[in-house]
Amino acid sequence: MSKLKTLDDLLEHQLKDLYSAEKQLIEALPKMAKNTEDAKLKQAFENHLAETQEQKARLEKVCEILGISPGRMKCKAMEGLVEEGEEAIDEEATPEVKDASLIAAAQRIEHYEIAGYGTAAHYAERLGHTEAAALLRQTLEEEQKTDTLLNKLAKGYINAKAE
Ligand SMILES: [Fe+2]
Repeated sequence: MSKLKTLDDLLEHQLKDLYSAEKQLIEALPKMAKNTEDAKLKQAFENHLAETQEQKARLEKVCEILGISPGRMKCKAMEGLVEEGEEAIDEEATPEVKDASLIAAAQRIEHYEIAGYGTAAHYAERLGHTEAAALLRQTLEEEQKTDTLLNKLAKGYINAKAE
């Protein structure tokens, strides 16, 4: 039963995957924020939680525009990435090393989302879904900004403190 016959089908599949990823991240980010004592990192996680909630709503809008359902698929990659984030939380480590470890996990998550949104936005553009593509690009840019911010914190002082 090959259900994926066109790029539109694949776009729908990708959007369902992203929707699951965002929902899982909404569950995971509060735990990550709770487990750092670094004010800037905590703030970054909290801000990204609010952003992630908007991203989830944006995906619902994209699905509505395209006339599809965001579905109940489970993104296994995000499940694994979130699990690694939880390992970072549970590890016996100094707070400084834990912060560096949390950033490492968070950046893996962001890179996964950047890949997903980049692909979905490109498919939407190719298929002429202009409005959906613009919404997907908006989220893509937010994910990139979050990644850049995490990079700045890590390189700025968090990794140095963990040495
Ligand atoms: Fe996201």
